Amino acid sequence: MQKRFLMCRPTYFAVTYKINPWMDPDAPFDTSLAISQWESLVSTYQELGYALEFIDPLPSLPDMVFAANGGTFIDGKMYTSQFRYAERADEAPAYRDWAERHGFEAHEAKQVNEGEGDLLTVGDYLLAGTGFRTAHAAHLEAQEIFGRPVVSLQLVDPRFYHLDTAIAVLSGSRGEKPANIAYLPEAFSAGSQEALRRLFPDAVIATSADAEVLGLNAVSDGHNVVLPVQATNLAEQLKKAGYNPVPVDLSELRLAGGGPKCCTLELRG
Ligand code: ARG
Repeated sequence: MQKRFLMCRPTYFAVTYKINPWMDPDAPFDTSLAISQWESLVSTYQELGYALEFIDPLPSLPDMVFAANGGTFIDGKMYTSQFRYAERADEAPAYRDWAERHGFEAHEAKQVNEGEGDLLTVGDYLLAGTGFRTAHAAHLEAQEIFGRPVVSLQLVDPRFYHLDTAIAVLSGSRGEKPANIAYLPEAFSAGSQEALRRLFPDAVIATSADAEVLGLNAVSDGHNVVLPVQATNLAEQLKKAGYNPVPVDLSELRLAGGGPKCCTLELRG
């Protein structure tokens, strides 16, 4: 099944506020480097044969490049985002408009949630993060909208504030091999670690060095895994587990706390 992604060019990328520990508004950033790195992610996806859609970036929204936070799209339905911080609030209606113009049935969120940043689809169910951004109550809201069982997971390390910085879904969509993930156990509470061990006994276990370069912020089609080039140990582990790591360099976007997965919103028809 062909992957279809929504992306947003980082035309107005900047680090002007701090809503996660990666961001330092006093440090320099280079918007043109962010754009060229993002363009190489786009070419990588094109070479892998994925279908890409683009949403227009808006000038006062420097984090809009992180499309994964724009909503959750499953079975032709879209669950809108409701951002935790005011700085990103206006992204939600922009993504909702895009969804409606492209034939998705939008369901307005009542609960705070940051889209696929915290709601990861694995086969027929969802792994849902809470602790920093998405409210626990949003997990039930997502379950009611999509009718898919949700497994709630408690994040405990502020550096890994979104679930997609602590877990990479490797496989599990229809037609792929059995569901599997890569993750950093210490990013989760003890109970959530135990739950992940039960669900995924064969998971690829990342090191903190992998996670500290946002190595888990990866995009997999079940075989190819697009991940930050700096995550060399994780790439080795993935190879041993039979995957094909595809490295990309998004170092400039990491200054805002984002990697390849953050730039990628999967559209599931
Ligand atoms: N600066 C953005 C924020 O803190 C980064 C978002 C990264 N996105 C993600 N899916 N992890 O909201």
